[in-house]
Amino acid sequence: ATTLGASAAERGRYFGTAVAVNKLSDTAYATILNREFNSVTAENEMKIDALEPSQNQFNYANADRLVSHARSRNMQVRGHTLAWHSQQPGWMQNMSGTALRSAMLNHVTQVATHFRGQVVAWDVVNEAFADGNGGARRDSNLQRTGNDWIEAAFRAADAADPNAKLCYNDYNTDNWTWDKTQAVYRMVQDFKTRGVPIDCVGLQSHFNSGSPYPSNYRTTLSSFAALGVDVQITELDIEGSGTTQANTYRNVVNDCLAVARCTGITVWGIRDTDSWRASGTPLLFDGSGNKKPAYDAVLSALNNG
Ligand code: G3I
Repeated sequence: ATTLGASAAERGRYFGTAVAVNKLSDTAYATILNREFNSVTAENEMKIDALEPSQNQFNYANADRLVSHARSRNMQVRGHTLAWHSQQPGWMQNMSGTALRSAMLNHVTQVATHFRGQVVAWDVVNEAFADGNGGARRDSNLQRTGNDWIEAAFRAADAADPNAKLCYNDYNTDNWTWDKTQAVYRMVQDFKTRGVPIDCVGLQSHFNSGSPYPSNYRTTLSSFAALGVDVQITELDIEGSGTTQANTYRNVVNDCLAVARCTGITVWGIRDTDSWRASGTPLLFDGSGNKKPAYDAVLSALNNG
């Protein structure tokens, strides 16, 4: 096929992008979005601070705009993210202990209920492990409520929307030899053993010089999949340009296609100028909306790889 989404669909997968809702009125942006992608993730509009700016006062307007844009065009929606140490509203940042635990679980329940049947997969918990060696949990107000906060969030999400795929999502979990990857692997293994409802693992896959695409990436994908979960590449971007960047994108796509339970790929933005990275050219379209060599590599891998 001739677009990313249609080509991925022929391989039984989706190809998505992060969307900034305020850019839907940018015609060049919306044209590429609607032509190329069959899955969307809100870049910021489904985060805790966006949806619950005051405690128990939910504001779904921007998120609902994206969901309706997507559903009217047969795009799937990935939900991002129900529980996270970052982008908490001020009222939550100042909470701790049982009050915070209850507020977090209430947020998970309310939001997953609001979007029930509309979100295919949720990043239930995002970035709960620390960087560096040791594989420890990241310190945060949520972690300080007790080590079981992650499974509590998954159980609440499962109760609110039993049909959504429930994912654990993180970065620097791409290299199979890194302690952080192994720590997440052990948590997922433990959840599967004990029947905690987890369906998928999201590998953000923000690749740059400090965290490059690893040659063992396919091993990471297949190892998680072997635990009985889907794997999704959830926030892909790759620093660089030209042929080198295109080759890395091709490798990532081929690795996903080689693993039956790698169900889809999301890039973290459309044009280089849409990227969260202040500088660099990590995406598939240039600032003018032209297809880059990386785009051609991804499309051809989806069709031939
Ligand atoms: O909306 C406000 C605007 O009103 C204000 O004028 C402006 C001034 O700074 O800030 C705007 O909010 C910013 C928001 O993006 C929307 O542009 C926030 O400051 C900024 O922190 C926020 O950055 C987002 C970042 O997550 C926050 O953690 C990025 O757009 C988003 O791409 C990035 O995405 C994360 C994933 O959620 C998790 N994985 C890593 C990934 C990249 O960092």
